[in-house]
Formats: sequence, C-alpha cells, structure tokens
Amino acid sequence: MRDRDSAVKIAILGGSGKTGRAVGAALARAGVATRPLGRAAFDDLPAALAGADAVQVIAPNLHPDEPSYVAAVLAAAAEVGVGRVSYHSVASPYVPAMPHHLGKAESEDLVRRSGLDWTILQPCAYAQNLLPAVRSGELAVPYSVDAPFGLVDLRDVAEATAVVLTGDGHVGATYELGGPALVSVADVAAAAGIPARRVLAPDDAHPWLRAMFDYYDAHGLPTGGVPLRALLGRPPTAVAAVLTRDLGA
Ligand SMILES: NC(=O)c1ccc[n+]([C@@H]2O[C@H](COP(=O)([O-])OP(=O)(O)OC[C@H]3O[C@@H](n4cnc5c(N)ncnc54)[C@H](OP(=O)(O)O)[C@@H]3O)[C@@H](O)[C@H]2O)c1
Repeated sequence: MRDRDSAVKIAILGGSGKTGRAVGAALARAGVATRPLGRAAFDDLPAALAGADAVQVIAPNLHPDEPSYVAAVLAAAAEVGVGRVSYHSVASPYVPAMPHHLGKAESEDLVRRSGLDWTILQPCAYAQNLLPAVRSGELAVPYSVDAPFGLVDLRDVAEATAVVLTGDGHVGATYELGGPALVSVADVAAAAGIPARRVLAPDDAHPWLRAMFDYYDAHGLPTGGVPLRALLGRPPTAVAAVLTRDLGA
C-alpha cells in the first residue's frame, strides 16, 4: 500500500488558516501534493516537516512573536534537510509604527540568513478583507477612505506562491505583491455601488490593529503590481473582479 505521506511535496505552516488554505488550493491546481500544518505541528516540528521538499511559512494573523515562530520552522527545516523555504511576509515590512509589520521585517532577516534556499513574498492587504463590509451594504473602515492601497487578490497571491515554489529562478528573491492598480476604499465602494465611510476603530481593537489603522489613515499601503504580473504571466485581478467573483461565495 502506498504510504499516506509519500506524495507530500510541500509542507504549509499555517496551512489550515485563510491564506494557507488558498495556497494549498493553488498548489493542488498546479498538481502538487501538500501537507497543511496547524498549531499542533509545533509539538514536533522536525517530524511535521520530515520528507517535504519545501516549506511555505505562513504565521497566524497578529502572532505575538512572529520571529520566534519563523525561527523554529527554519531550525526544524534545516534539521530534517528541507532545503527550500518560502516566507509569507507583508508589503512594507519595515514600518516602525506597525509592530506586526516589524515582526515580519525581523523574520525576513532570519529567512535570508537561514542558509536555506529562500524566497520572500510581500503581499499587500487582500481585496477579500473588504468582502464582509461590502456584503453589509456599506464600506465602513477606521481609516481614510481616500488612502491608496495596492489591494491584491488572495487567489493571485496563492497562485504566485505556487509559481515560486514549483518554478526555477526564485531563490534569493523578494517579491512585493500588489494588485494591478492603486485603489482607495472609496474606489472599491464606487465599484460596488455602495457608500464608503470612515468610522472609529472598535474600543476593543488590538493595539497593533489600531497602529495599523493610524498608519493606513495617513499613508495607506501603496504596493507595486509589476512583480505579481510577472509571476502570474497575466495582469493581477482587479478588486472589482474579485468582488464579482467572490461576493456570491
Ligand atoms: N489579511 C491580509 O490582508 C494579509 C496581507 C498580507 C499578509 N498577511 C499575513 O498573512 C498571514 C496569514 O494570515 P491569515 O489571516 O491567513 O492567518 P490565520 O487564518 O490567522 O492563520 C491561522 C493558521 O495559523 C495557525 N495558528 C494559529 N495560532 C497558532 C499558534 N499559536 N502557533 C502556531 N500556529 C498557529 C492555525 O492553526 P490551527 O488551525 O491549528 O489553529 C492556522 O493554520 C499573517 O501573518 C498575516 O499578517 C495578511
């Protein structure tokens, strides 16, 4: 009988999360077997990674110590001979005003000095983040509705991840992943035919999210779309197309 794990090619840390599921689906579409891993993998990381050809590292949202999470995965990968790693970072990781971005900047440094064959992906905020608000009939956000973002389709980000993990020429590369154009929340609202409004952050919002909203309010999160277009071999999906495709989902 064929061993259950014999076909596993790519281990996905955070594979049961929102991003990880999208990456797993993209790899499956590319015909690659995956091993999605959640928090239980940290009970014995070397065993969880053994036999994989590569590992995709995705930390959970707002992990309190992302560098430690990433360091543990890198050490385990090295221990069991998984030589290829791709790290899911964020656009503009080095922003001292946003603690969770700084955690990714520090983690990127660990990845680059790991001795493994690495690639770093820096996606902008996903267009999908706005779907619940669009469904509610009003795009109410706790930052300026006119701030510029390179909002990106999570499905495109996942497809690009599959490209770097299965293709040649991506070792030692850092790719900023933005959508096809800079857009504001007001632009997205106009495309959806609903109003946009700036509201106060909820009183119980995580302090790191408050810091992010303040930064978004002043600067947005502009992100270039050229690397994603190059990786996909087609234009990245526009936010309006994401809404049309995903609103019924
Ligand atoms: N949302 C965006 O627009 C955006 C943009 C750029 C980058 N990012 C980044 O993308 C990453 C993934 O975001 P996401 O929303 O997809 O994540 P998520 O859904 O919160 O990820 C959950 C995953 O992390 C695992 N996990 C949860 N707590 C853990 C712990 N303490 N130790 C180990 N594993 C744990 C979960 O495993 P279990 O199933 O076992 O709980 C699950 O596999 C984040 O680092 C985020 O900053 C997000």
